[in-house]
Amino acid sequence: MKRNTIDQLEAILTDPDLRVPFFDGKTAYYSRQEEIDTAIQKVLSNGDYINGSEVTEFASNLANYLDVAKVIPCANGTDAITLALMALGLGKGDQVIVPTFNFIAAAEAIALLGLEPVFVDIDASSFNINVAELEKQITTQTKAIIVVHLFGLAADMYSIMGLAKKYDLFVIEDVAQALGGTYQGKKLGTVGHIGCTSFFPTKNLACFGDGGAVFTNDLNLAKRVKMLANHGQAQKYDHQYIGLNSRLDTLQAAILNVQLRGLDKAIVERKEIAGGYHQSLKNVASVSLPKEDQAHTYNQFCILLANRELRDQLKSYLKENGVDTMIYYPKPNHLQPAFTKPGYQLGDFPAAEDTCERILALPIYPHLDNEKQTYITKLIVRFLK
Ligand SMILES: Cc1ncc(COP(=O)(O)O)c(C=O)c1O
Repeated sequence: MKRNTIDQLEAILTDPDLRVPFFDGKTAYYSRQEEIDTAIQKVLSNGDYINGSEVTEFASNLANYLDVAKVIPCANGTDAITLALMALGLGKGDQVIVPTFNFIAAAEAIALLGLEPVFVDIDASSFNINVAELEKQITTQTKAIIVVHLFGLAADMYSIMGLAKKYDLFVIEDVAQALGGTYQGKKLGTVGHIGCTSFFPTKNLACFGDGGAVFTNDLNLAKRVKMLANHGQAQKYDHQYIGLNSRLDTLQAAILNVQLRGLDKAIVERKEIAGGYHQSLKNVASVSLPKEDQAHTYNQFCILLANRELRDQLKSYLKENGVDTMIYYPKPNHLQPAFTKPGYQLGDFPAAEDTCERILALPIYPHLDNEKQTYITKLIVRFLK
């Protein structure tokens, strides 16, 4: 695309086809169309739609990429967390700690299994779990911590693993938004006892539908997860556990084998776009920018505005000018009606509650044009001037 001046872009962006969507799923396909078409065609002509060879191949490719002993593909990221929790063999009423500022999946999986989600506030500067607050919530019933590396930034795994050791707790890492990121030289998801991810289309490593995986270096846990994902079967019709039917489709695995080859490059592109936002918005007094960190994979780029009113006005202004944004997340987990019953209430977790009022996610994905990004930042600067 030839470079356009901002004025030209503003004119162009009144064309609905050329607006800046929050996420553009099609570019992931068109940028690797030939390889993806070939991979899909192969599955279609083989007819091995369930547990085809591409699924085993993908498990092995991802294990190599992560440098982890076992990867068990499954149907989606929520199932991955559910399977990880099931494999730990926790009992009814056991407590699992989880950050309240998060997508609902982890808390939902905990509660569905009859376990008790115990919410913890975040550190507002990283959006990740506040480790000092975490320790305060540990009781004799606490059995596990679900760490979420939110928006692509690693949580403080050193301190978390220290607490896990001190109190004998399992650590589940949810890397749905941070796959490909590292922590002190190790791939995220392999620092704790068991890692979970989603391949939802907006993720760093994405398929064209639903998908997920669990990974671990613990061979016993891996064996259990594998059985649990397949109706608890040790072998066909020998059901050792009550499990799930949670499979990654062969077609999605074939797509993921192609996408995995481009994961590191896609993360570099995300970092470049994040760098562009940092550069253009660093002097805008009323915006706070996410942490700059070499290992951040920027699955999302979330800014904070001074207050809710300003955030909502900026969101509307960007929308009027053709730019879609999202609010991740409008409400912390502990204030969701599903979780207010156990007694959680407004004021319990001030950092998370305040963040929900002020946060705004800007478009960030590989192949987002420089020109379009410049247009977004110019709009923000103009609005906030
Ligand atoms: C942090 C996190 N965990 C888990 C999930 C659940 O993944 P899925 O939608 O594949 O079930 C998501 C999905 O958005 C997520 O962002």
